[in-house]
Amino acid sequence: MKSHAEQEVLTTLFTYQACTVDSYGLSCFSPASVPQLTNSPTLIVMVGLPARGKTYISKKLSRYLNWIGVPTKVFNLGQYRREAVQSYKNFEFFRPDNEEAMQIRRACATNALEDVVIYFSKEHGQVAVNGETGQNPFGIMNTTELSLQVFFVESICDDPDIIAQNITEVKVSSPDYVNCDKDEAQADFLKRIECYKQTYVPLDDEKDRHLSYIKIFNVGSRYLVNRVQDHIQSRIVYYLMNIHVTPRSIFLSRHGESELNLLGRIGGDSGLSPRGHKYATALGGFIKGQHIKDLKVWTSHMKRTIQTAEHLGIPYEQWKALNEIDAGVCEELTYEDIQENHPEEFALRDQDKYRYRYPKGESYEDLVHRLEPVIMELERQENVLVVCHQAVMRCLLAYLLDKTADELPYLKCPLHTVLKLTPVAYGCRVEHICLNIEAVNTHRERPGNVDITRNPEEALKTIPDHF
Ligand code: G3H
Repeated sequence: MKSHAEQEVLTTLFTYQACTVDSYGLSCFSPASVPQLTNSPTLIVMVGLPARGKTYISKKLSRYLNWIGVPTKVFNLGQYRREAVQSYKNFEFFRPDNEEAMQIRRACATNALEDVVIYFSKEHGQVAVNGETGQNPFGIMNTTELSLQVFFVESICDDPDIIAQNITEVKVSSPDYVNCDKDEAQADFLKRIECYKQTYVPLDDEKDRHLSYIKIFNVGSRYLVNRVQDHIQSRIVYYLMNIHVTPRSIFLSRHGESELNLLGRIGGDSGLSPRGHKYATALGGFIKGQHIKDLKVWTSHMKRTIQTAEHLGIPYEQWKALNEIDAGVCEELTYEDIQENHPEEFALRDQDKYRYRYPKGESYEDLVHRLEPVIMELERQENVLVVCHQAVMRCLLAYLLDKTADELPYLKCPLHTVLKLTPVAYGCRVEHICLNIEAVNTHRERPGNVDITRNPEEALKTIPDHF
């Protein structure tokens, strides 16, 4: 039995379209080849006044869900509005008594909801995030029967400093204010918030007790969670309760070059080469020079990361979850050995490197699941240096930079290079710091680019300055 509000949402999807449930075919939305991680699609409805971090939450949540393998897309109503009305004039557009604008806004909501339905029914989407709505969702919702879960995320913020910071950092550079003076943009945006306040109704603990939702107060100083219905909602809640917005940096580095790296062999548990030790010392100097407050250092359980961290002179924490991908029967082989002795495996891996699992070993997809607790803890912490391995670093980087499963196994993470990631607005700024200690190149290009297995010397060339 669907909850009342859920029915309201669904009816809106269909009454606006004057269409039947069957014509959308939501019940058979995904072929067997697409991993089905939810029983029914989920629509996340963002609720809150402007400048309360709805876009930030939407983008971050969508990045996380996509990374864990749940196809998710953000439907940003602001974007629909900008497409409908190309030149934004001022806050008057958002006045509740501006009937013409209201009609446009309602049409935008309808169009967005139509696109959500297409995403679920034709594009194998499992979660859609309805971002950028400052209006009370009940204003655009009605009733019907459909297998769709609705989860509300309300961001409530009454701290003027947080709101002002959000406006300064994000809103004044929105496409609405291109070529607009920053102070004028700020003043206009504050008036826009006042317009929304006239009609905004927060989720009500009593009246909306049948709904599934999380209320986030003042960017996570307090939460209220109500009626979590399924596994995906529980993961969403857990994630949202672990993220924070305190400025910090995440440093990612592979271990120093290892003895097996020198031989072009994958996996194993060898120690550092002499150049690897040199890098570890250089990394220590680099980190010291950064003057990082309360830096946490994490390594895997493997010798090469531990030996690297030993040079830092900072206590470190060892995580088994950070161990390199397990290459199973291919451990300690070179790519040439694999091609020669396991040609089918070699070809299969090239066909789908993300999903390919080594016999008796792991796939990148397995690795992502193994790394989820690391990501969650990374979200909870502030400054962290993760000393890890090539495949592991690719997975962490893909999460931080919102890369797809197809891009992930080919991300370039050279030895002896630190990546510094600093959260900015809706993403991360990344800096590549090459510490100028020579090392072998362990990156194998996507087949079709450069086939280094036919050119083994390529595998042993030193890292270029830029990658
Ligand atoms: O197997 C060990 C490597 O670090 C992962 O590299 O996935 O590009 O083969 P690869």
